[in-house]
Amino acid sequence: MKAAKLAVFGNPISHSLSPILHAVFAQQAGIQIDYQKILVPHGEFKKTVDAFRISGAAGANITAPFKFEACNYCDALTDRAAKTKTVNTFIFKDNICLGDNTDGIGLIRDLQKKSIRCADKTILILGAGGATQAILSELISQGPRKIIILNRSIEKAKALIEFFHHPNLVCVDDIGECVNEIDLLINATSIDFHHHAPFDINLSSAVCYDLNYGERHYAFSQWVKKNNASYVYDGLGMLIEQGAESFKQWLALINA
Ligand code: ATR
Repeated sequence: MKAAKLAVFGNPISHSLSPILHAVFAQQAGIQIDYQKILVPHGEFKKTVDAFRISGAAGANITAPFKFEACNYCDALTDRAAKTKTVNTFIFKDNICLGDNTDGIGLIRDLQKKSIRCADKTILILGAGGATQAILSELISQGPRKIIILNRSIEKAKALIEFFHHPNLVCVDDIGECVNEIDLLINATSIDFHHHAPFDINLSSAVCYDLNYGERHYAFSQWVKKNNASYVYDGLGMLIEQGAESFKQWLALINA
């Protein structure tokens, strides 16, 4: 059987571990894949994806900053992608591009594996970009007491509040407003915490979870530890879980 063509699109993309991850899944499933990292020049998302599809690809992952463009590119969306209006997975089938988003379920599964509960907890999310938009719907479904979004640009946080429109979802423009009540801190920013740690906060009773991994996570973990956090996790577990959910769908297509 010919190797199934897959890829991850992003900018930057060199740091991505997705090819290694999917090589392991493919080995476990007993199929051959050719999974590339594709750097998409800004303004050339459609052109780049079109070229990849024409080459007979089965699907792709999409990472920052293209999850919104990916959503607009699709011919059809799964329910969870429609709810978040962001896409991290393409499934190319019968000339149709189906868009899915597996980030939210990937995060929830990893939190569950780590016994981190969201129900009745107060969650502070740093950032209001595509990564936050992708996880909010699943996080809300876990029944937290409150989700607070803090972002450099308050308008983007407000837009998310309006989009998801839930009584337990709020935003603040100052960390002082929520300093004593955080059970779970989620970093969904691309801040380089080595150079731009945005504020200090006592995190002694919070679990800290970073959607990033690698170098970027290292800087975040140093910052939260400096702020008295005892529990800090990187986003590797989420990466694996969201990847597994994407792979499952490609496998069904390849084996059909
Ligand atoms: P993604 O799609 O991965 O979420 P993004 O849309 O670029 O990527 O969002 C990155 C987030 O990190 C944004 O919330 C951004 O804040 P703005 O909405 O104000 O742009 C945040 N971010 C990036 N660099 C930052 C910095 N130096 N200080 C504060 N916030 C920063």
